[in-house]
Amino acid sequence: MAKKEKYKIGLLGLGTVGYGVYQVVEYMQKEQWKEKLGVELEIPKVMVKEIAAVNKKIQPHTTLYETYDEILNDDEIDIIVELMGGIEPAHTYVKMALERGKSVVSANKDVYALYAEELEAVAKENNCDLLYEAAVAGAIPIMRPLRQCMLANNLQCVMGILNGTTNYILTKMEEERWSFEQALAEAQALGYAERNPTADVDGIDAARKVALLAANAFHSPVTLHDVYTEGIRHITPEDIAISGELGYRIKLLGITELVNDTIKASVYPALIKKEHQLSNVSDSFNAVYVYGDAIDEAMFYGRGAGELPTASAVCGDIADIIRNMEYDCVTRVRGNYYNHYTICPIDSYENAYFLRIKAADITVWQAIFDQFGIKIAVTKEYRDSVAVITEKATEKVMAELFEALNQAENIQLESKIRVFA
Ligand code: HSE
Repeated sequence: MAKKEKYKIGLLGLGTVGYGVYQVVEYMQKEQWKEKLGVELEIPKVMVKEIAAVNKKIQPHTTLYETYDEILNDDEIDIIVELMGGIEPAHTYVKMALERGKSVVSANKDVYALYAEELEAVAKENNCDLLYEAAVAGAIPIMRPLRQCMLANNLQCVMGILNGTTNYILTKMEEERWSFEQALAEAQALGYAERNPTADVDGIDAARKVALLAANAFHSPVTLHDVYTEGIRHITPEDIAISGELGYRIKLLGITELVNDTIKASVYPALIKKEHQLSNVSDSFNAVYVYGDAIDEAMFYGRGAGELPTASAVCGDIADIIRNMEYDCVTRVRGNYYNHYTICPIDSYENAYFLRIKAADITVWQAIFDQFGIKIAVTKEYRDSVAVITEKATEKVMAELFEALNQAENIQLESKIRVFA
């Protein structure tokens, strides 16, 4: 027998994901919650920025508000679902809810990539749940698998394609030969991009997800500030075309590894062999690889962005919390940051690079490579430039090489992109 017949949700935000959750809870699954969870779900209160601007289909039992108080102070609201985006006031609102003993579900990676440890401690102190599965890779279950299903492993590496917008842009630039701007506009129209797409194209959105993956894979605090981040603005159609001829695609990769008790965490575009499974993850799809001592490897694939895919993950968390409430338990599946590994600086990573160089005389730039001991694995002439793929060297030495090439007369270093190997 259920403790309550109906659980009530206070929703903060009715944007793309907010309305996705509203639709799933109030229309698409409305009749099935009772069967699936044994209780009914309802969203009686929604906070929006401007009530007059809302033109979405809403149930008669739902009231819209422009302030938080009506939701926070309502004892009948069981769970708060925060889908406002941005750091403040979302961070403060979540904290206030937890301090009131209200469990929270969120998709807000901006907040958790900075404040996960703090907010999870507040949740624990106040005996409530804080879940944010949807913050990483949209519809793909990955936070819960890391925290629960793969807990038996010492994980070594988690890597993948973690941003739907940039994956869509790179896919369309390759397949349709669209310009970067055209592909970005389409990604925005499809609801993949953040309100401010610079977070997508500059790699920050993916970096937030890498921070969350790293913290949960290695049980150690990792924030956005610990992730080396580079976006895709500098990738040109020429880079994509030449890489294609050399057997590679260019993808924005998020990678975190545990090496000698230090955490490597980075996001950057990289050439990746066409045969590699990640190379074939296209459009707004995301994929995450996990390597562990017991599982060997596991791959998770699915939609990483969009209204309903993200809403699906949010609703999974809501269901989990309802079950906890029904069985009088909380924080069963949570972040647990008992290690305190140091973060490995990017300078000491070893990477191979794809470089596109324009120079009148090949011997000049080759001499500079020799000076830094950088070996060339592949050379390809392309129109009036030459593309090379180097052997691996430390980022520190690579940076010195780039500096020397940039200083040299009659040499233009047109592109430098890492190669995943
Ligand atoms: N803007 C994000 C993306 C949404 O494109 O992946 C999901 O985090």
